[in-house]
Amino acid sequence: MAQRVFELTEASGRSGGIELPRGFELGVATASYQIEGAVDEAGRGPSIWDTFSHTSGRVVGGDTGDVACDHYHRYAQDVALMADLGVDSYRLSVAWPRTQPLGRGAANPQGLAFYDRLVDALLEQGIAPALTLYHWDLPQALEDVGGWRSRDTAQRFAEYAALVHDHLGDRVQRWITLNEPWCSSILGYANGRHAPGAKEGEGALAAAHHLLLGHGLAVAALRADAREGQQVGITLNLQPVTAATTAAADIEASERSLMQSNLLFTDPVLAGRYPELARQTYAGLTDFGFLHDGDLATIAAPLDFLGVNYYFPSRVREAPYRQADPALRTADDLGTADVPQPGEELTAMGWPVEPAGLTRLLVWLRDTYPTLPPIYITENGRACDDVVDAGGRVDDPDRVRYLDGHLRAVVDAVEAGVEVRGYYCWSLMDNFEWAEGYGKRFGLVHIDYATQRRTPKTSFAWFRRLIADQHGRNERDG
Ligand code: FCB
Repeated sequence: MAQRVFELTEASGRSGGIELPRGFELGVATASYQIEGAVDEAGRGPSIWDTFSHTSGRVVGGDTGDVACDHYHRYAQDVALMADLGVDSYRLSVAWPRTQPLGRGAANPQGLAFYDRLVDALLEQGIAPALTLYHWDLPQALEDVGGWRSRDTAQRFAEYAALVHDHLGDRVQRWITLNEPWCSSILGYANGRHAPGAKEGEGALAAAHHLLLGHGLAVAALRADAREGQQVGITLNLQPVTAATTAAADIEASERSLMQSNLLFTDPVLAGRYPELARQTYAGLTDFGFLHDGDLATIAAPLDFLGVNYYFPSRVREAPYRQADPALRTADDLGTADVPQPGEELTAMGWPVEPAGLTRLLVWLRDTYPTLPPIYITENGRACDDVVDAGGRVDDPDRVRYLDGHLRAVVDAVEAGVEVRGYYCWSLMDNFEWAEGYGKRFGLVHIDYATQRRTPKTSFAWFRRLIADQHGRNERDG
């Protein structure tokens, strides 16, 4: 296997190892609803993803997270896989409906006990947990009273954050409030592709704001009881955005697109403001009445790190609005379209592959925000049509090339002066890929969903060697 991995690295066109900075951390990431299963066990309440996936037509093939990777029961095996891989850190998410089933009130001790077992198993192996508090599984009871459209949900989130922190704060040092609030608000409340499946204008923008407010309130709640060594941050999915042509209309379209995919989140969090272009673009939808005095100061609390999820870049041109009347548009209706590049490689998700986009994104962040905190890449990876071969192996050279290229892109950003401290591969194992169901595989470990058999892929062996090399370098450099 080692020989083959070496060949793959050579085949990527650049020989030699990847020179990550000393102390750079390597890890893997997952999320609760995508892997846990056990949706009706031990007092867990329903989440918006249970409701959504059980609604016909929402998820490809009618797949649901009812069983997923059965990680709730097989976590010990999964921790053993991570120990074999040698990761420094594991980014997991806590399911709000498992730990506080109705989204308010008392904790569910059995739910917390699951995360006790998991965190303790990780620490026994010397793997540092990085804990995301919200990776999209809102308790259904909160959605029933408005979900993220409602300001009260931000308060509920901060209380839930404190509850989890009271319980695990003695063992978990790295805390991530939200995963990808763009997805929760825009995919969830504007274009309906994710739970709760709404298609709204002002509601989606209010949701984005209340997610960010919830983040700020949660940061304050965690800091109020800060433990030594604790780090608090947020994970945003960001894209480098360029105009497809130099035509003024395309440039303006790319600016609207950049505003929505990045600035709507990075500006409040990193600079305490909403972009002027957001107010202009959405003037027909909302007067931003959901923004109260003091909110931006809460949202912009200094962070210990920024989590960045990067998958692909975006090239944008102007396109007709789907709805002519600005007052009736959904918040994702921006008069823009993404333009495919001729001949570019696409993943099984149809996402373009461009490692240099990650360098561009990181340098853009550094140049745009003078107070940018250190960065962790909290997700990066690709879907491939992986199959188990006759010999029982899963060979995924395209994933190896993708990971190799993106880690080199991180090194390029570090050399350009961006402080990047670690990288989490998405994902440890194949899992429930939201609206795409189980058909899209992102794992270093293949899951046979019929038997729950775990098979490490070639990329697992490649990543293991990369981690071992990095540990060797750290030791040599002392
Ligand atoms: C991200 C999500 C993650 C996973 C990857 C492929 O947007 O955070 O849960 O689905 O995409």
